Amino acid sequence: MTSPIRTERHGDVLVIISDNPPVNALGAAVRQGLEAAIKQGVADASIHAMVIRCDGRTFFAGADITEFGKPMQDPPLPALVDMIEASDKPVVAAIHGTALGGGCEVALACHYRVAVPSAKLGTPEVKLGLLPGAGGTQRLPRVAGVALALRMTATGDTISAKQAADAGLIDKLVGEDSLAADALAFANDIKGHRPLPRASEKSLAPDPEAVAAFQKANARKFRGFDAPAANIACVVKATEVPYHEGVQFERTEFMRLMFGTQSAAQRHIFFAERQASKIDDVPADTPLRPIRRVGVIGAGTMGGGISMNFLSAGIPVTIVEMAQDALDRGTGVIRKNYEATAAKGRMKPEQVEAAMGALTPTLSFDDLADCDLIIEAVYENMDVKKDIFTRLDQIAKQGAILASNTSYLDINEIAACTARPQDVLGMHFFSPANIMKLLEVVRGDKTAPDVLATVMDLAKKIRKVAVVAGVTYGFIGNRMLMPRQVEANKLLLEGATPEQIDRVHVEFGMPMGPFQMADLAGVDIGWHRDPNRIENVRDALAAEGRWGQKRQAGFYDYDEKRTPSPSPRVAEIIKEWREKTGTPQHEITDQEIVERTLYPMVNEGALILEEGKAQRASDIDVVWIYGYGWPVYRGGPMFWAKTEGYDKVVAGLERHGFTVAQSLKSGAIK
Ligand code: 3HC
Repeated sequence: MTSPIRTERHGDVLVIISDNPPVNALGAAVRQGLEAAIKQGVADASIHAMVIRCDGRTFFAGADITEFGKPMQDPPLPALVDMIEASDKPVVAAIHGTALGGGCEVALACHYRVAVPSAKLGTPEVKLGLLPGAGGTQRLPRVAGVALALRMTATGDTISAKQAADAGLIDKLVGEDSLAADALAFANDIKGHRPLPRASEKSLAPDPEAVAAFQKANARKFRGFDAPAANIACVVKATEVPYHEGVQFERTEFMRLMFGTQSAAQRHIFFAERQASKIDDVPADTPLRPIRRVGVIGAGTMGGGISMNFLSAGIPVTIVEMAQDALDRGTGVIRKNYEATAAKGRMKPEQVEAAMGALTPTLSFDDLADCDLIIEAVYENMDVKKDIFTRLDQIAKQGAILASNTSYLDINEIAACTARPQDVLGMHFFSPANIMKLLEVVRGDKTAPDVLATVMDLAKKIRKVAVVAGVTYGFIGNRMLMPRQVEANKLLLEGATPEQIDRVHVEFGMPMGPFQMADLAGVDIGWHRDPNRIENVRDALAAEGRWGQKRQAGFYDYDEKRTPSPSPRVAEIIKEWREKTGTPQHEITDQEIVERTLYPMVNEGALILEEGKAQRASDIDVVWIYGYGWPVYRGGPMFWAKTEGYDKVVAGLERHGFTVAQSLKSGAIK
C-alpha cells in the first residue's frame, strides 16, 4: 500500500505532505509516514527546515477515531509529536481547513505555525468524551494562555485563524490561495533562527481566577459530563508541574476517559449522526431536485420557525396564511427572533435584513406555484391537511416536493389525496423549529428515492440532523414518548409525585421530566375540551384551567418568573384519582421509575426496528439526542440499553409486566 505521506525537496526545505482523504485523520499509516519523513529531514544534513502540510480539504482533523478502543499501532501520536518538537531543525505547520484534536497537537508540537485566514483550530476531543491526549493540554496553555486553553479543551469550541494569531497560536496568517508557497517562504525566513521555540519548554503561571470564572460560567453546560472536568484538571496541572509530569497526568486521564462508557457513548453518536444521513436503498449519487424557493403554509410558531431555517441558509421562502393579522403576527415574530439574535451579536443587522428580504408573505395559495418544496405546517387535523394537499396538487408545479410537518398523522393517507404521492413526504421539525437540530424525514410508501435524497441533502444545508422514519403513529420520537407517559401517569396513581418522577429524569440527564414537559408544551394539548368528560389526572387539571406554564399552573405552580413549585392542589387531585380508581399504593423507588419509564422506551424502539420504521438502532439514538435532549453521554436509548445490559432491561420489563420485543430478548438489535 502506498503511504499517504510524501515528501518534496525545495532547496534545503523538506516539505512533508499528507494526503489521507476525507479529513487527513492521523491513522497509523499517516503517523508512520510522518515519523519516517521527520527522521529523514533530521538525518539529512542538507535539510535546514521542514514544513508539514496537507492536501485536500483540511489539515489533520484529529486522531483516527475508528482506531479508538483497539490496540494502537506504532508510533503512538504522543511519541510522534514529541519527536517533531525535539527536531533540531525548525518544523513549520502549514494549516488550512480545520486543525482539530491530534491535528492541533501536531501543529502545537511544530516550532512555528502559519495558517490561511479561513482556517480553524480546535481541540474538540471533549465532544467525544475525551481530552487532547498527545500533549495538547500541556502545550496549549503554554502557547495560548490558561483562559483560552480552558475554553478550547473543555468546551471543544474551535477558534478562527485570526483569533489564534491574536493568541500567539499562529505565527503568521498567509494568503488564502498561496499556503504552500507562503509556508515555504516562511520556512526559508526562519530556518536560521535559534533557539527553536518549543511549546513544552515555555513556563506558565497559575491563573486560579481564570479557572474559577470558567468553571462558574459553564457549570450548567457541563452537568453530568466527565470529560470537561478532566480537561480542566489537565490544564490546571500544566500550571503546577513541569511539562513531563503534566503529560503523564494527561495520559492517565486520557486512558480513564477512553475506556469509560461516556466516551464510548459520545463516539457512538459522532458516527451515528453521520450514518443517519445514509439511506440503505437510496444510492449516495442519486440526482437531486433543485430547491431554489420553499413555500411554508402556516405562519404560526412552527411555520415561522421552519421558515427561519431556510431564510438563514439564504433560501427564499413564501409564507402563506389565511388572514392578514395572522400573517403579520407571524412575520413579526420572525423579525423579532432575528433581531434578538442580532442583539446578542450573533448576526449582523444587514444579515437580518437579508433574511427578512428573502421572505415573501402572502394570503394567496396561488403564490406557492413557483416553489420547489412546500411544507404544510398547520394544526394537527387530518381533514384540514387533506384539504390543503388536494389544493396543493392543483397549484404546485410539476416535480415540486410536498411535505407535511405533522407529528403523528399518516403520510400515506395525506399523499393519497394528490395525484403525485411520489412527491409527498413528512418533514417533522421539532419546536422551536429554528433551533432544534432534529428533522424526522417521514418516508411514505410511495415517496420517490430522489425526493428523499433531496430532502436529506437539504437538511444538511439548513444544519439539521435528519433521520428517516417510516409511517407509524408518532414516527420514532413521539411514538417512544407514549409508553413513557402512560407509565408516568400510572406511577402517579400508585404513589409517586410529579416532582419525584421529573427529578429521576433530570438526574438521569434529561433536560426535564415528563410532567415538566407537559407543563411546557401545554397540559391542554390533545384535551377533548369537554368539562364533563374527565377521565384522568391530566383531564382534571385541564378542566380546571391548569394548562401549564402559560397559565402559571399545571402539574406545578409557577411564579411570575416561571419558577416551579410543587402544587398542593395537584396533590389533592392525584389523591382523588387514587381513591376513585382504587389504585393500590406502594413505595416507589427511583429505580422503579427508571425501569418503568425508560425501559419501555427501549422496548418501543426495538418494536420500531422490528417493523422497519427506523433503519437502524443508532438512528433512534440520534432522534432522542437531537430531538428530546437525551444526555449524549448516555448515547441515546438504544445505546444506553446495551450499556445497561439487554438482559437487565428485559428482566426489568418482564418484572413490571411488559410484553418484551423479540429482538430485545434475543439481543438481535442492530
Ligand atoms: N477520525 C475518523 N474519521 C473521521 C474523523 C476522525 N477524526 N473525522 C471525520 N471522520 C470521517 C467521518 O466519519 C465521515 O465519514 P463518512 O463520510 O464515512 O460518514 C468523513 O470523515 C467526513 O466527515 P464529516 O461528514 O464530519 O465532514 P465535515 O466536512 O462535515 O466535517 C470535520 C469535517 C469538521 C473535520 C468533522 O468531521 C469533525 O469534526 N471531525 C472530528 C474531529 C475531532 O473530533 N477530532 C479529534 C479526534 S480525537 C483526537 O484527536 C485524540 C487525540 O487528542 C489523541
